[in-house]
Amino acid sequence: MIIAANFKTNHTRKSTKEYIEKLNSYVNDLGSKDSVLVFPPSTALDSFDLNDKISVGIQNAYATEKGSFTGEIGYEQIEEFGIDTILIGHSERRHVLGESQDEIVKKYEFYKAKGFKIIYCIGEPKKVREEGIESVIAYNFAQLEGIDISYKNLIVAYEPVWAIGTGLTASTKQIEETLGLLKEKIKAPILYGGSVKVANTKEILGIKNCEGILVGTASWDVNAFCEMIGIAKNI
Ligand code: PGA
Repeated sequence: MIIAANFKTNHTRKSTKEYIEKLNSYVNDLGSKDSVLVFPPSTALDSFDLNDKISVGIQNAYATEKGSFTGEIGYEQIEEFGIDTILIGHSERRHVLGESQDEIVKKYEFYKAKGFKIIYCIGEPKKVREEGIESVIAYNFAQLEGIDISYKNLIVAYEPVWAIGTGLTASTKQIEETLGLLKEKIKAPILYGGSVKVANTKEILGIKNCEGILVGTASWDVNAFCEMIGIAKNI
């Protein structure tokens, strides 16, 4: 299983270091076989000395080695820290920051060519969910347009937009049905994300075709995130 923490615009360089140290000693003591991914803000990146089950990734980067893209980070800046994992297509980048499918495809191709592990996010807004499962699947598949889903280092995260940061989790039935239909096309592991917390981790990880979780809000507390890793180990 894959247990991932997305810090978004939270934590500082100092608090990230403390978080990662605690996480590392927890995972060392637990002896877990699950993969743990952490996406801190770019300002907190570093070369951490970690248990080999833990990887630190970047939440976003530009599709360039280096160049004139004010405010962006390219491959050269990431490589310095030995980072080889990236989140692409997160709903906040699509819907809040206006990233288009074309830009996302370019980014995907660039970091795929670098051999990165890519956590590629898809998920429908509330209006689409209300139209029914056929619309949901069509919307999610449209977000895969131009994406090589046979890429060996791909992990897909299904995160319904209406469940992200809202406290609303999709029901077990909704998740199971959606993942089942997505799985007909996607052979890569699929994670669920959207208001995952300690209290619902066990149930979500027990859903058929759910190969892990991508956690935002509830992961910002290292103790809660460790608890989720502990729950995953017992499933
Ligand atoms: P959330 O965020 O857990 O706060 O809903 C999930 C995500 O955006 O990856």
